[in-house]
Amino acid sequence: MAIRICNVTDIKPGRALRVKIGDHAFAIVHSPDGSFHALDDKCSHGEISLSEGFVDNETIECWAHGAKFSLETGSPLSLPAYEPVNVYEVLVENGEVFLEYEAE
Ligand code: FES
Repeated sequence: MAIRICNVTDIKPGRALRVKIGDHAFAIVHSPDGSFHALDDKCSHGEISLSEGFVDNETIECWAHGAKFSLETGSPLSLPAYEPVNVYEVLVENGEVFLEYEAE
């Protein structure tokens, strides 16, 4: 199910927005290259919101200890994280951002 999140202009390039759907928190990321991504909003190394981290074209970096995760796959690309985070499909249509998510 595609859930409308916001307008494209609501998240500046290089920033992320924390969104909760039920009990599930997502980091909706607007990469500097213009693409949008969605990940679980929790670093796999600790209780830190990835949406508060640093975004570049392909990664988001946790501010706490510097672990970087792939925006495409959620894979950890640097220590101290070694577990991936889940990623979700994001659709952009007519200037609006949608998250593909099926609540359990
Ligand atoms: S809590 Fe994210 S790198 Fe440690």
